[in-house]
Parts: sequence; structure tokens; C-alpha cells
Amino acid sequence: MNKRIFLSSPHMSGKELEYIKEVFDSNYIAPLGAFVDRFEESIKNYTDAKNALALNSATAALHLALRVLGITAGDDVLASTFTFIGSVNAIIYQGANPIFIDSDIDSWNLSPKLLNKYLLECDKKPKALIVTHLYGMSCEIDKIAEICRLHGVYLIEDSAESLGATYNGKHTGTFGDFGVYSFNGNKILSTSGGGMLVSENKKWIEKARFYSTQAKEPFVHYEHIEYGYNYRMSNVLAAIGVGQMEVIEERVAKKREIFEWYKEFLGDIQEVSFMPELENSRGNRWLTALTFENTNPIKVMQALEEINVESRPLWKPMHAQPLFKDAQGLIDGTSDNLYAKGLCVASSTTMTRADVKMICDIIRNQL
Ligand SMILES: Cc1ncc(COP(=O)(O)O)c(C=O)c1O
Repeated sequence: MNKRIFLSSPHMSGKELEYIKEVFDSNYIAPLGAFVDRFEESIKNYTDAKNALALNSATAALHLALRVLGITAGDDVLASTFTFIGSVNAIIYQGANPIFIDSDIDSWNLSPKLLNKYLLECDKKPKALIVTHLYGMSCEIDKIAEICRLHGVYLIEDSAESLGATYNGKHTGTFGDFGVYSFNGNKILSTSGGGMLVSENKKWIEKARFYSTQAKEPFVHYEHIEYGYNYRMSNVLAAIGVGQMEVIEERVAKKREIFEWYKEFLGDIQEVSFMPELENSRGNRWLTALTFENTNPIKVMQALEEINVESRPLWKPMHAQPLFKDAQGLIDGTSDNLYAKGLCVASSTTMTRADVKMICDIIRNQL
């Protein structure tokens, strides 16, 4: 049996151990320390975000964004329905109501048209939108930002999957009031687990920093007026992040190359379609995502499993999850259809052209 090929496995640069050793030598094993600051700086330099806060997950980052914006029990919060649950759990944490908006077939991401329609017709105005850049591909963020601005809705970009993706040359995550990146084990960069919250607004990031460290008031003893969380990133994991950031552009290039190989080997097949990339954008192609017109993706997944290759159906839309059976929104069937036909195929940056060829041969045999 060949060595397992994962959807997206961690891929170290080689510098991480050296940086972790520095952490050990300084005995700064605690959360916070010089590498946390360095990691925040490297994200700011790379994305051009004005302020950054390193946290223990992107889910925590989304939670802090909602808390800082004053989203509270009973508020409505819009979200992409075609996303991973981590994108919307924070809405529940705040006791708010998720309102799901369907995708556009041109981007597979949240439809600006449906968003605008919902905002024009709703009785109760939502306070915020969490929009996902799915599989590392930018949504129509300029239109979506403009709609949010016109309707007075805060915009949070869930860029958990899209570090390195740009729209009109600007990094995803830097268009909205807040942006969020994930460094979970399967992301384009990994710190084992971790997240980053970014914003132009310094006060908001400082408030989020305060909440992320148990909301300690500035006294020598511990004084608390508000409740907080234990959400900060550890200095050990930040050292991994600093090593990973040195290769972000290499990783984006490799993910994009893997996508091109899939297109080369499957592009001639009529029933195969790939997730589109919007004009004026550069996706990071975190996972190559495709649909089959007439073939059950589960059958293809099982065939790939037989050769020890991981693949996975596209995210099951949030509005179709039992957890959200009573949620409101504007759904036109686009994401349901993509989910029924779609598959994410192995896209680890350690893969070779021969790996992709082998996977594509198996896929072809199933069609
Ligand atoms: C779209 C999306 N949002 C949020 C998350 C949550 O990120 P984390 O695991 O860092 O909390 C993930 C991935 O895990 C994701 O893919």
C-alpha cells in the first residue's frame, strides 16, 4: 500500500524546529512571548493588515470579532451557507441568529445578489455578515463590502482557508471590518492549531486582545469588570508560525500548480468542472474542488480510498444541517447542487505531478 496522501497535510519549512529551540532556550514556553509578536508582525507585513492578534484558533478570532462589534443575544448575523461550521459557531456562542445566504455559481461563494435582496426585503436588519472565501478562493468581496457599507452591516471575512489569496491585488481578510486566518493542521500554513484576527481598527484589536486574556483590568491585582476568554496563542506555536510564514508564497505557488495538474489531466472531460477563480483575483487553491455532472462523488471518494488517498465531499451547506433546521435565510439551491456533485481532491503541497496523475487515472476510471 502506498503512503497515505492527505487532502492537505502540514508542510514545514525546515526553520520551525530552530525557532522552537529558541523558545525552549529562553524558557518562554508560556502563551505570549517574542514569537507571538513576530508572528503578528509577519502577518501584518504580508497581508498589509494594519493590526493583528494571534489566537489559538480562527473560531476564537471570529468569536472575538462578534463580541467586540457588540453582537449579542437575539441579533441577526448573516453568513455564507456554503462553508465549514467553524465559520458560524461563534454566532451561536453569542446567542445570535445565523441567517444563511446561498452561493453564486460564478464563484461558488456568497452571492452579492442574494445578499442585497435579503437586505432590501428583511424586516429586521442584521448586524453583521461573516463571508467565507471558500477553499482559498476569493468571493466577490468588493461588491459584498459595498453592499454591507450601504446597509450599515459590519463585514467579517472568514479567510480561514484563504491566506495568500488576493482580490484586485489586496489580500482577502483586509477588506472588511475584521478578517480571520486559520493555522489549523490542514490549512495552507499550520501551527498545529491557531488563528489570527486582523483589522484596520486598532481599538477593536486592542479590545479583542483584552478579551482574549481573561479581560484583566490594568491593576496589579486581578480586577474584572467584564468576562473574557483564554484564547491567546502559545509562544511555541507562534515559533512554528514564524517559520511557516517564510514559505507562504512557495506554498501558494505549489497549491496552484497542483490545481493546474488536475486541470491538465481531467480538463478534457465534459462532466468535470472546477471551482472558478474570479477575474482580478488570485486564489490560493487550498483544496482543488470539482464537480461531476453525472457521477456520484462518493463513488469516486471510495475508489480513491482504496489506493489510500484522501478526498472529501464539498462542505454540506449550513442551511441543510440539522443544527440549523429552523434558521432563516435566502437559499436558491446553488450550494445544495454543488454539494451533491462535488468533491475536494488531495492537494497537499508535498504531492508530486505523478501523485496527481495517479489520482486522476482513478477518477477517470469511475466516470
Ligand atoms: C471556513 C472556515 N472557517 C473557520 C474555520 C475554523 O478554523 P479553526 O480550526 O482555526 O478554528 C475553518 C477551519 O478549520 C474553516 O475552514
